[in-house]
Amino acid sequence: MEVGHIPVLADEVMSMLAPAPGSLHIDATLGGGGHTERILEATDPDGRLLGLDADGAAIARVVDRLRPRFGDRLVTRRANFRELSTVAPEAGFGQVDGALFDLGLSSYQLADAERGFGFRTGGPLDMRFDTSRGVPAAHLLATLDADALATLFGRYGEEPRSGRIARAIVAQRETTPVTTAEELAALVERVAPPNPRQPRRTHPATRVFQALRIAVNEELDALQEGLAAALDLLRPGGRLVVLSYHSLEDRIVKRFFAAERRGCVCPPELPVCACGRDPRLRLVTRRSLTPSAAEVEANPRARSARLRAAERLAA
Ligand SMILES: C[S@@+](CC[C@H](N)C(=O)[O-])C[C@H]1O[C@@H](n2cnc3c(N)ncnc32)[C@H](O)[C@@H]1O
Repeated sequence: MEVGHIPVLADEVMSMLAPAPGSLHIDATLGGGGHTERILEATDPDGRLLGLDADGAAIARVVDRLRPRFGDRLVTRRANFRELSTVAPEAGFGQVDGALFDLGLSSYQLADAERGFGFRTGGPLDMRFDTSRGVPAAHLLATLDADALATLFGRYGEEPRSGRIARAIVAQRETTPVTTAEELAALVERVAPPNPRQPRRTHPATRVFQALRIAVNEELDALQEGLAAALDLLRPGGRLVVLSYHSLEDRIVKRFFAAERRGCVCPPELPVCACGRDPRLRLVTRRSLTPSAAEVEANPRARSARLRAAERLAA
């Protein structure tokens, strides 16, 4: 079966970014290029877009599909979006009209049995977006002690049974280390089975897989740095749009927008502002937008998506 990635909340992203001919945009998470394609269509004939992805396979796939149509209006770089402040100006995108972050992983990555992202797909537990850097998830499972694993599952997966799962992994690796997605999913299902009286919509290993992926890719630090870099690149009136898929990501986006909207970071007890920081953002979405029931039905991956958008104020 052909795997594809359906862009999430695509109409909402387009209405928030409002891309016009001649404009410059950054897609910090190219993935399958679905949002990029819509932006390039809307900015015809001369808008340009810089697309980043940490995953070289994503870049290659999008270039193959979209370069014949859009030519040099599409510029790509294999890079982590935490490096935006250097990568974008070097690529000629020093000031832009909009930036999009569609976080997490694509359906292509989830379906790739060599990457170990999915408990249903299986495969060696790697989980890196960029396989040329860092260490695979299996390495963390083989080397961290039970306390460190429990902290990781608790912090990045909000997994209530983190201690029990961590101890089982450490006990099992005495004889056979956990190296594949199937083995990890089976272990979690065995030691932390779902409560039959509280039916869950998700697999019991969902939180553990999320936690490992976040840790392996340092996703939360990268997001914080990527948002700060993108804001610096926006021209006044430029829009920053972020799609997140779990509460840890959404909390970072929400707090970042709130802090940049407030400006001043002085403690409330100070009678006058001493930091001198001005507000840099205006919220475009007061509350996050979520997909309609029809979109979730057509694309279940959209289920947990939240969109937030903000606009850069004049200096
Ligand atoms: C949800 S997909 C994007 C889908 C895309 N919007 C589309 O419509 O096809 C997320 C992509 O972001 C990439 N990614 C995740 N974190 C990244 C980071 N810190 N830097 C660069 N790329 C990242 C992943 O490799 C993945 O390809």
